[in-house]
Amino acid sequence: MVKFKSRPSTPNGKPAKRPRMAYMEDSDEERTPVKAGKKNLESPKKRMKSAAPVSGKQHAIQEQRKLLPIAQGRDALIHEIRENDVTVLIGETGSGKTTQIPQYLLESGLAGKGMIAVTQPRRVAATSLANRVAEEKNTEVGKLVGYSVRFDETSSEATRIKYVTDGMLVRELLSDPILSRYSVIIVDEAHERTLRTDILMANLKAIQQKRNKPTDRKGKGPAAALSPLKIVIMSATLDAEKFSSFYNKAKILYVKGRQHPVTIYHTATSQADYVDSALRTFFQIHTDRPPGDVLIFLPGQEDIEGLSSSIQLYANRLPQATPGVLLCPLYAALPPGQQTKIFSPTPKGMRKCILATNIAETSITIPGVKYVIDTGKCKEKRYIARSVGSGFDTLLTRDITKSSAMQRAGRAGREGPGFCFRLYTEDAFKNMPLSAEPEIRRCTLTASLLQLKCLGQDLEELEFMDKPDEENILSALAALYILGALDDKKALTKNGRDMAFLPLEPYLARVVLAARELGCVREILDIVSVLSSNSKLFFDSADQRDAALEARTKFRHSSGDHFTILNVVRSFDEIAKTETNAGKKDWCHKTYLNFRCLTEAVAIRTQLKEVCERMKIDWTASCGDNEQPVLRSLVRGLVQNAAFLQPDGSYKQVMGPSIVKIHPGSVLCDKKIPAIIYDELVYTTNIYARGVSAVPRSFIAEVPVLNHRKA
Ligand code: CDP
Ligand code: MG
Repeated sequence: MVKFKSRPSTPNGKPAKRPRMAYMEDSDEERTPVKAGKKNLESPKKRMKSAAPVSGKQHAIQEQRKLLPIAQGRDALIHEIRENDVTVLIGETGSGKTTQIPQYLLESGLAGKGMIAVTQPRRVAATSLANRVAEEKNTEVGKLVGYSVRFDETSSEATRIKYVTDGMLVRELLSDPILSRYSVIIVDEAHERTLRTDILMANLKAIQQKRNKPTDRKGKGPAAALSPLKIVIMSATLDAEKFSSFYNKAKILYVKGRQHPVTIYHTATSQADYVDSALRTFFQIHTDRPPGDVLIFLPGQEDIEGLSSSIQLYANRLPQATPGVLLCPLYAALPPGQQTKIFSPTPKGMRKCILATNIAETSITIPGVKYVIDTGKCKEKRYIARSVGSGFDTLLTRDITKSSAMQRAGRAGREGPGFCFRLYTEDAFKNMPLSAEPEIRRCTLTASLLQLKCLGQDLEELEFMDKPDEENILSALAALYILGALDDKKALTKNGRDMAFLPLEPYLARVVLAARELGCVREILDIVSVLSSNSKLFFDSADQRDAALEARTKFRHSSGDHFTILNVVRSFDEIAKTETNAGKKDWCHKTYLNFRCLTEAVAIRTQLKEVCERMKIDWTASCGDNEQPVLRSLVRGLVQNAAFLQPDGSYKQVMGPSIVKIHPGSVLCDKKIPAIIYDELVYTTNIYARGVSAVPRSFIAEVPVLNHRKA
């Protein structure tokens, strides 16, 4: 039982009912003010209701569009964007920036004959927004409105508005360095400062200089055909100045949002287990508070799935009279088919509970939320330098920033006064950093450096909003050299160009290229597709580990986890020949395998086969029962992740200083193997290598770069 310290009070000073978890109400200045007039205070739901019966859903959608805060400024916005090459647009989450601006620009003819691209840092935002805007345009997604995310493209010749991940647009630079298909590029969620967004913003600046130069357009030669490019930078937070000055004092436009007061509570003491605290807080709200949906912010997919099943379990035991709970998970890898539930109205007599990552902070506005539970945690990609670890990015759960905390609270006040329960103390909030460090300062630059090399650019020379770290650039250069993508003069090799063409992490791309030489592309695509999926194949939570390992015995392979993956994929392919989706799901459930991962991997494999065909790589090449070519290919990409057995049973990295152990979830866990390679390191009490294969030492020694070093 958590001990409670004090009783929170409501904004009107009346003592609140004592909750079973203690929260302190927040100070006044932190409360977000009402900015809208009386008319705006009406909830969109109400508005929709009054409009709906006349001519159905479409009419309601159009009415809702007109009532968005941004609609009042439509003509002024179009005017400003027409007048300026670059505009920075700031507006509260939910005001209509992402869904409306592209439509306004298209309707006003501002896009000319070109396309409008809207970038998003996350794929689920890109797909769901495209669906929404297609609906607003009364068409199916893939026609006038489309999307493009890695391994999934839904667009056509008719597409004029395309929602894309920032990474996809950076990738498009490789085939079209001036992005000539687009007349407007909207960089959305710019405040997130992802690595791809930063690279894109740097390139857009240079592209615009090329495309908008009047002399070039009037002159002769290829430049004469260039159409000018408009750039719109959009964000929900107020750090506009920096973007504006980066684009030579670009015009800043503000859209007044609509925000109702949100009462904020902090816990009296810090919480040891945020998932457990979230569970109890949810049921306090559910049993004590009036109707209204609940949005819970969690760091990642695993916590979302865990909490979701706990809530379901307890909800099933509640008395009949208690409203039912409709659970809606929302995270970056959520497939498009499962997104609709989040936006559809909550059924009568139910309470919707959305469990989301920071994706719901600004990217996606969910209607109906009255209560927010903020665990104060998020996952952040961070580079673990080679000197201490893997040289790869690791996702770490960490405390959020003040700016995130404020955005999360704001989600409760979209349609009426709301409540935010922070599962951390007020002191913890006060000590949070204001905003996050841009990714370019903390993530691996390897993949981006490779892409830039293909464009004839260098990280050191490109003009960024924030410069990347010298040491980080050096380690990216080293990694690409080891993978054979760059030669010793830092110049791109043929291999490097091919690697960049494959939509994979450079090290996995290298594995595929090695497989091409060694004649085992079929096997490697099976493995690489699983490794590229956004979720893990094996469920291996510590409490179910024994049962899971037992159920998966038949896939175990003495070479290790990569061949075990291959066995799983082959069995799944067999099952898929005869079973329905439900049958496949059931099979996965029984064997503690992640159905979602396998489904995604199959889709990725299809895409990779297409890319292979374009690159004239024979993906049907198979090495049959011979394991050697597969292991050799894996070593070629994972050589930076090789380790040798030491007398005490631990492993020492070949190209780094760390001592690692084999992860308990690996099939090689208690084996003593002279040499291993692994997919990643997990940092807990020890450093664990996960995704491990046993390889002959000679395979590691034969990688050219190691020979170099010895020489
Ligand atoms: O980009 P910004 O945060 O300014 O707003 P938006 O994403 O354009 O959303 C505008 C409005 O559309 C919000 O009120 C959303 O609730 C609504 N919307 C929706 O109902 N269904 C979606 N799938 C997406 C947006
Ligand atoms: Mg938006």
